[in-house]
Amino acid sequence: MSTVFKNNIILGPINSWMFKMLSGYMDHLFGNSKRELFKNHPQTVVEIGPGAGANMRYFKKGTHLIAIEPNVHMHKNLKKSADKYGIELEIKTLVGESIDLPSNSCDFVVCTLVLCSVADPNQCIDQIKRILKPSGKFVFIEHVKANENSVLAFIQNIIHKPWHWFFEGCNTNRDTKVLLERAGFNSLHIESYHLYSPFIPITPQIKGEAIK
Ligand SMILES: C[S@@+](CC[C@H](N)C(=O)[O-])C[C@H]1O[C@@H](n2cnc3c(N)ncnc32)[C@H](O)[C@@H]1O
Repeated sequence: MSTVFKNNIILGPINSWMFKMLSGYMDHLFGNSKRELFKNHPQTVVEIGPGAGANMRYFKKGTHLIAIEPNVHMHKNLKKSADKYGIELEIKTLVGESIDLPSNSCDFVVCTLVLCSVADPNQCIDQIKRILKPSGKFVFIEHVKANENSVLAFIQNIIHKPWHWFFEGCNTNRDTKVLLERAGFNSLHIESYHLYSPFIPITPQIKGEAIK
């Protein structure tokens, strides 16, 4: 499986702008969950696919954020967001499937709406497990595959191709819950829920935390 991210000079800037514009709406949708999941986070946080920086507002001022973001078109807005919220940002232009951090070196890894997009989610989850210290925590919010044969599953399958193209690799119908359950974390808490949003294909969601 390729661990190279193909930067798109048209869609990259469009998506970066769109995620920046949507950050207030994202806060409305996910703010409470993120505050709960990120509470008591340590001084250094690793975030996979931080995009335009939607999560910066929930990190404590002065946090050292190691941002694994292969999409170079996100970097400008990511830096702006870091400046706005007083985050000490270190960007690594790498994919989540190939992280250059040492094994057993991180306390806290964050991933929101990213495992849908990585080319090889199993490899990315393996990397997260590898870099976490024993008892380190991985927190996530992801949209997932709808129940088999449901109307939502039908919509996800129909929209999948154009969605995957426009959102640079995002899969509407990935079964991320099962992938996390099979990943072999020491403990795993997953809550499945329905997000109330006009972005119908991504309304089946999960959130939770895993301990290595
Ligand atoms: C839907 S956006 C979510 C951005 C942000 N996490 C948020 O919650 O707003 C998906 C992000 O994953 C990034 N991404 C895509 N493939 C990736 C990969 N293989 N490794 C790491 N990040 C990736 C994209 O560049 C983009 O920033």
